[in-house]
Amino acid sequence: MTDSAQAIEVSNLHKRFGPLEVLKGVSLTARQGDVIAIIGGSGSGKSTFLRCINMLELPSAGTITIHGETIAMKKDGHGGLAPSDRRQVQRIRSRLGMVFQSFNLWQHMTVLQNVIEVPVHVLGQPKDKAVEIAETLLRRVGLYEKRDAYPAFLSGGQQQRAAIARALAIQPLVMLFDEPTSALDPELVGEVLSVIGDLAREKRTMILVTHEMKFAREVSNHVVFLHNGIIEEQGPPEAIFGAPKSDRLRKFISSIH
Ligand SMILES: Nc1ncnc2c1ncn2[C@@H]1O[C@H](COP(=O)(O)OP(=O)(O)OP(=O)(O)O)[C@@H](O)[C@H]1O
Ligand SMILES: [Mg+2]
Repeated sequence: MTDSAQAIEVSNLHKRFGPLEVLKGVSLTARQGDVIAIIGGSGSGKSTFLRCINMLELPSAGTITIHGETIAMKKDGHGGLAPSDRRQVQRIRSRLGMVFQSFNLWQHMTVLQNVIEVPVHVLGQPKDKAVEIAETLLRRVGLYEKRDAYPAFLSGGQQQRAAIARALAIQPLVMLFDEPTSALDPELVGEVLSVIGDLAREKRTMILVTHEMKFAREVSNHVVFLHNGIIEEQGPPEAIFGAPKSDRLRKFISSIH
């Protein structure tokens, strides 16, 4: 059963790459306004989990429900699942704003063109309306002056803020961040965290994979610790960081301080 306040419900998600089972039954519910931080060691399955939510990776088993709509999947004949309705996947994906570690801006387009591309060419928004929204978003992330620059001429922090504006332009139900600051020089991390922190404070639903523990503690209302493809521990940030129960989580937290 789902209720309308549920933004994302993932149930018993499994993902294998050949012999390697990366996710071994992960379930997670994000209600509207939740800011969920996912933490865990390298290779624990954090990116794979996020990528399954918007079907950039196809799960091997389990169900994914976005805003009450379960993604229809069928057996693919190779022990995995495939979407039964590609248009449904496109529709659902167009409501999820994904921000990657490596920015992934289109290099041959200016910042403004990056931001309006999907609204105009995929969602059918009139161009003048899309430009107006894009300019507002670029002002918000402090990049209005750079709207006509190409990504190669921007710093990493500016590129990532442009990528966040691009993700926001589709008016996403949920924002998915995969280590948005880990490719940045240390002095550029703060400007990106500040933009994400503002989004969290306005209660935008988001799932955030991060290595920035102090930030996760500040902005999230729920923290999930992934270890070897399962949720080893989860709870409110004060409990996870202040009073971790599992040895593995304790070890992980002390290793990154
Ligand atoms: N396309 C793929 N094919 C085969 N194996 C993969 C693929 N993608 C990921 N893996 C493997 O799945 C495991 C989990 O990878 P994933 O990228 O989800 O980890 P992560 O928790 O995001 O790690 P990191 O903190 O380093 O980003 C790793 O062992 C990785 O090598
Ligand atoms: Mg990763």
